Amino acid sequence: MARILISGSTDGLGRATAEALLEQGHEVIVHARSPGRVDAVAELLGRGADVVIADLADREAVLDATRELNDGAAIDAVIHNAGVLSGPSLLPVNVVAPYLFTALLTTATRHVYLSSSMHRGGRATLDGLDWTGEAETASYSDTKLLVAAFSAAVAERWAPRVLANSVDPGWVATKMGGAGAPDDFDLGHETQERLAVDPDLQVSGGYWHHGAQRQPASGVRDPEFRERLLEELASVTGVPLPKH
Ligand SMILES: NC(=O)c1ccc[n+]([C@@H]2O[C@H](COP(=O)([O-])OP(=O)(O)OC[C@H]3O[C@@H](n4cnc5c(N)ncnc54)[C@H](OP(=O)(O)O)[C@@H]3O)[C@@H](O)[C@H]2O)c1
Repeated sequence: MARILISGSTDGLGRATAEALLEQGHEVIVHARSPGRVDAVAELLGRGADVVIADLADREAVLDATRELNDGAAIDAVIHNAGVLSGPSLLPVNVVAPYLFTALLTTATRHVYLSSSMHRGGRATLDGLDWTGEAETASYSDTKLLVAAFSAAVAERWAPRVLANSVDPGWVATKMGGAGAPDDFDLGHETQERLAVDPDLQVSGGYWHHGAQRQPASGVRDPEFRERLLEELASVTGVPLPKH
């Protein structure tokens, strides 16, 4: 049995992932953006899940959450699921929060990052990015490329102790995906679950879609870009990614 944090688990794929992992007998920490959103996971709390609250657009709130989580029982895996499609919080929510959780939740030996097929339209550049969330300087596609590149960087830096993978869940019907999304919803969360807990899936550095590895965009595969991304994230957050 593993203890798993799932960011953004009040809705959509994150909530379904939390439900499935609880059903499998794992310890689950669900995450809500505010006290008001805890209602959305009341049933999961009734089934034994723990909860942590943080608005991921607020860097201080993310740091407070990591302190709270590190004071609790050791976390084995993190599924970095929370995401937004637009707005000035794109970089803070989709990239900075996963970075801080990864750098600071040091007991976790598996990290799974939600990317998207849309990362293929993203720019592999750090030029002109405002990481604070004051201005919208990146597209959704840019952030999904950055988080896939970050995942590959974590896999490389922390091998073999830590397994890190990114996942394209497909286009599925959620608040973000819209009601008419065509892909299978269950396939949209099963890969993350397996990558987080399956003892037979000891794989790292992959970009996945529906249980199989795919080749990500060239920016994700560029070691020099990945290294610059780590340096940039350490610099803008003041939190280095430990070199272990
Ligand atoms: N759906 C798709 O077709 C699709 C395709 C490719 C990739 N993805 C990726 O899959 C992941 C999950 O997407 P989804 O479709 O399940 O989205 P969703 O239904 O919109 O759910 C997103 C989750 O993230 C949370 N969240 C957003 N901003 C937050 C913030 N500032 N602080 C804390 N929590 C925040 C939401 O909280 P609230 O419930 O309070 O809003 C919700 O729990 C995302 O990373 C997305 O980019 C989805």
